[in-house]
Amino acid sequence: MQRVRVCFVCLGNICRSPLAEAVLRHKAREGGVEGRLEISSRGVGAWHVGEPPDPRMRATAREHGVKMDGAAEQVTFEDLTEMDLVLSMDGDRHADLVEMATREATARIVPFRAFDPDGGPWDDVPDPYYGGERGFEEVFTIVDRTCEALLERLLDGSYREVRGGPNATRRP
Ligand code: 4NP
Repeated sequence: MQRVRVCFVCLGNICRSPLAEAVLRHKAREGGVEGRLEISSRGVGAWHVGEPPDPRMRATAREHGVKMDGAAEQVTFEDLTEMDLVLSMDGDRHADLVEMATREATARIVPFRAFDPDGGPWDDVPDPYYGGERGFEEVFTIVDRTCEALLERLLDGSYREVRGGPNATRRP
């Protein structure tokens, strides 16, 4: 079976998207389905390229038993052609990705929280970078429950039915 290629995109690729990558991988591993997915993350900005995830985000993840590793990478046009699903962590990033995408960009671009059972599809994952410790815990809570629902939809293929795509506008 073809592996589903999924990529999370935030601003710096040091807090939200690498957390989502780590949480989804953790859940897939626990469920014995890691081999069915190819999971990655990127940032729209280049400021942190090559850096490990933010120590505050790593500490929060560790408290929940999730290990974060890897180094920040900037999103490229190729990502938008090679992935099956690109998940924007907030509305501004969604707009950035839609702007980057052309007709050749075949990846589905969908707001991450479209998969959140407790959130609206256009809710942002709040940017924790300039906030306090509680912001990181809130991000973890949102990302954890959303990845739980997302994993199911990646495995049964129904992620394809969630609204979004190369021509999606910022707000429906
Ligand atoms: P992220 O958080 O997009 O969740 O990785 C941020 C990281 C860095 C910056 C902003 C947000 N920054 O401005 O450098």
